Amino acid sequence: MEPTEAPLFYAEKGVGFMANSQLHVAKTAKNDEFYTQYEDIEAEMNAYVEYNKDVFRGKTILCPCDDPNRSAFTEYFLEKIRRNTLGIRKIICTSYAKSYLTQNPTETEKASSSFDAEKHYTHGRIFVIDESMDLPKNVRELPWEYLKGDGDFRSEEVTKLRDEADIIITNPPFSLFREFLAWIIDAEKQFIIIGNQNAITYKEVFPLIKNNHIWLGSNTGGSRKGNSMLFIVPLNYENQYVEEKNGKHLMQTSGKWFTNIDHGKRHEPLQLMTMADNLKYNKKLRKKLEKDYGKIEYPHYDNYDAIEVPMTEAIPSDYDGVMGVPITFLDKYCPEQFEIVAFRKGDDGKDLVFTREREKEFNNAFASMDCKKKRVQPYFRILVRQVSRV
Ligand SMILES: C[S@@+](CC[C@H](N)C(=O)[O-])C[C@H]1O[C@@H](n2cnc3c(N)ncnc32)[C@H](O)[C@@H]1O
Repeated sequence: MEPTEAPLFYAEKGVGFMANSQLHVAKTAKNDEFYTQYEDIEAEMNAYVEYNKDVFRGKTILCPCDDPNRSAFTEYFLEKIRRNTLGIRKIICTSYAKSYLTQNPTETEKASSSFDAEKHYTHGRIFVIDESMDLPKNVRELPWEYLKGDGDFRSEEVTKLRDEADIIITNPPFSLFREFLAWIIDAEKQFIIIGNQNAITYKEVFPLIKNNHIWLGSNTGGSRKGNSMLFIVPLNYENQYVEEKNGKHLMQTSGKWFTNIDHGKRHEPLQLMTMADNLKYNKKLRKKLEKDYGKIEYPHYDNYDAIEVPMTEAIPSDYDGVMGVPITFLDKYCPEQFEIVAFRKGDDGKDLVFTREREKEFNNAFASMDCKKKRVQPYFRILVRQVSRV
């Protein structure tokens, strides 16, 4: 469904532009200003509701990095509460005073009876959307108050709001992802949040995934293309990959949803071919093995008793041992089908590696070297084992 009005990011004069005095904020905050599109939020939330229609019923949801004038999360949830489609009890949104976009108040903000020119740059704001309220259609008309502090999610007052909430949903600043996740896990809350794909590899994050305490969201639909999504960036965000669309500036980056709420996709087992069939019919695999690894067979690691599987779809259905797969496997990970054994390192504590006899000239840097063997270190493998065959 389309939002009720055009996205608010740049609809009002002042939003998206920056006062010179706030340049320092822009510099430090720059990499954290990736704003989520309505269509991506809707596609992801639908996945949880399809799996359990009561997933949000009676729940208080906290969006702690979300200024309603600049967050499609608020827009999405306001709409759902207004129409009472998901049974949500309450939404609490808090904004961060030092956010790049918050720095220039909009005309509507300035006209509000809550506005205080002195507080605006130092105090975050809180917006409470309750099912019992008479709700406006437009997020800009929501009542709000200043917080006591700047709205940092780590502050005592926002932490109290976390404790009151059942579910935390947002796209937090990428640079604080580790801290943000720990803040949620400490309080044992349910969550649906966005992080950079690399967050999978963080030492604080991977063990949680391995032990099925957290997993990837559905990550389908919306603006998604493979591993990336299109985020809205501030108007003067300088980057060669920024594209303009309907007055918004969009940039593709590798965002993933992380969650501890169940959805259907993670229970869909992968359909796989046997090892013999893969080696015979899987053209992509054959090309990779021959071109990069020099032989049409699954290599065996030197420092771990496991085979290298360079692409998820080439996992052999009839192999019972451990296999090293790319991190993108997690998008297809079904815990009833696979268990995660380890990450990245062999028995010697070093990155997984295998050796190839040099039977012919390799089509890479090694080709020119006078060596008989080639050591191949594939990028960040996850070691997995099948626990049931489909
Ligand atoms: C990636 S943006 C996403 C904004 C919004 N949640 C969305 O998805 O469109 C992260 C937001 O968190 C704000 N932020 C940065 N540091 C913060 C902190 N310590 N506490 C709360 N919010 C913070 C950023 O300024 C930015 O507005």
